[in-house]
Amino acid sequence: MGGQRLHGSVRVTGAKNSVLKLMAAALLAQGTTTLTEVPDILDVEIMAELLRRLGCGVDHDGPGRRVSITVPKTLAHRADYDLVRRMRASICVLGPLLARCGAAEVALPGGDNIGSRGLDMHILGLQKLGAEVNNEHGYLIATCQQRLTGGSIWLDFPSVGATETLLMAAVTASGVTVIENVAREPEIVDICALLINMGAVIDGVGTSTLRIEGVDHLDPVVHRTVSDRIVAGTWAIAAAMTLGDVTILNSDPMHLQVALDKLVDAGAQVSVLPDGFRVIMDKRPLAVDVVTLPYPGFPTDLQPQFIALNSIANGAALVTENLFEARFRFVQELARLGADVRTDGHHALVRGRAHLSGAPVEATDIRAGAGLVLAGLVADGTTTIYGVSHLDRGYSDFVPALLGLGAHVDRIEADSLFT
Ligand code: EPU
Repeated sequence: MGGQRLHGSVRVTGAKNSVLKLMAAALLAQGTTTLTEVPDILDVEIMAELLRRLGCGVDHDGPGRRVSITVPKTLAHRADYDLVRRMRASICVLGPLLARCGAAEVALPGGDNIGSRGLDMHILGLQKLGAEVNNEHGYLIATCQQRLTGGSIWLDFPSVGATETLLMAAVTASGVTVIENVAREPEIVDICALLINMGAVIDGVGTSTLRIEGVDHLDPVVHRTVSDRIVAGTWAIAAAMTLGDVTILNSDPMHLQVALDKLVDAGAQVSVLPDGFRVIMDKRPLAVDVVTLPYPGFPTDLQPQFIALNSIANGAALVTENLFEARFRFVQELARLGADVRTDGHHALVRGRAHLSGAPVEATDIRAGAGLVLAGLVADGTTTIYGVSHLDRGYSDFVPALLGLGAHVDRIEADSLFT
């Protein structure tokens, strides 16, 4: 039910896009690695199942807050299609499996609802480290002689996934690896922190060039997952859209600098607190242009939420999507609520409307789902969002958190919609 002003505080847990890779990195060290601040989300369950099938023990302590992964001496090295098709991020076991086992077989994930997603940089980089990589029967089959060897790699684009694959492959390779034009996301810095703690030697963390000196082996550790900047950003945009006053805890506003600056341009007051930040909005937002770029640019994972904001803003805004070509698909759903959005290639022109009107809509991916929830919070009447399982993949306890901030929201099992 739209129309409630969100107010109060919400605590963010660890980042989905970090914890999945941290779980994969645990494979590099025999013994028990423990991760804390683990979000209670579906993708963590899928990754846990994948690790179990590789031979690991995976234990949850409390409702998803702490996960311990016990890695045996000998691992299986195949990630099956039935899991990879459910979670594309499963590809992140490729690097660690190759490094640990000298072989990895990982199902090709294919495209998804946000577009085709290449793996060419993962493959070329692994080849530079001495691996042989082939595509057979829908699987990437990678092998290497005993140990990978250090090498020089240039990424054509600062891909998050390729940076992670190559980093995890290089930390135990023989010799030095230099990877240039790497991604610099806080999640990459987090995985570097874990690996360094395990005994890896990595220079240039947080810059565009990583220099990795291979070590013989890594040890298991306890590691706290970096906070989820995209979940924090989603709450910040929700506060601005609902003329709310929301304090976001356990979050580093430095990880959201561009997005928070855009909210200030839209008219919000953003104040930094010791353990997070607060967003207050007291007037209809102004439309703001947004261009998605690799970090530290504006994150593509907040683009749908920002289109939702612009759809009720005063004025018109141009939103440019540079990472995932199909991420504008969701605007057709937003249009069902009355939003005025025109897309042309990777640009979307959003003309703000004073009102949206509630309607049934379908979430097609995690962030599209988040964008639709935000729009539903401000639309007149009731918005029913189908496909919320997408939200389960990335937002832990979303409905309770919304209720805690004063939203009128309910989760309904699909069958009961017809009773
Ligand atoms: N790309 C290639 N070849 C490659 C690798 C990437 O062409 O070898 C292209 C992709 O097709 C895409 C672009 O480069 O168009 C960006 O891909 P990148 O590798 O940077 O992204 P990713 O690792 O596949 C992660 C997050 C995404 C997030 C992006 C960008 C995970 C599990 N996923 O994806 O998160 O949008 O980085 O920041 O970490 C989400 O959480 O909703 C989500 C999609």
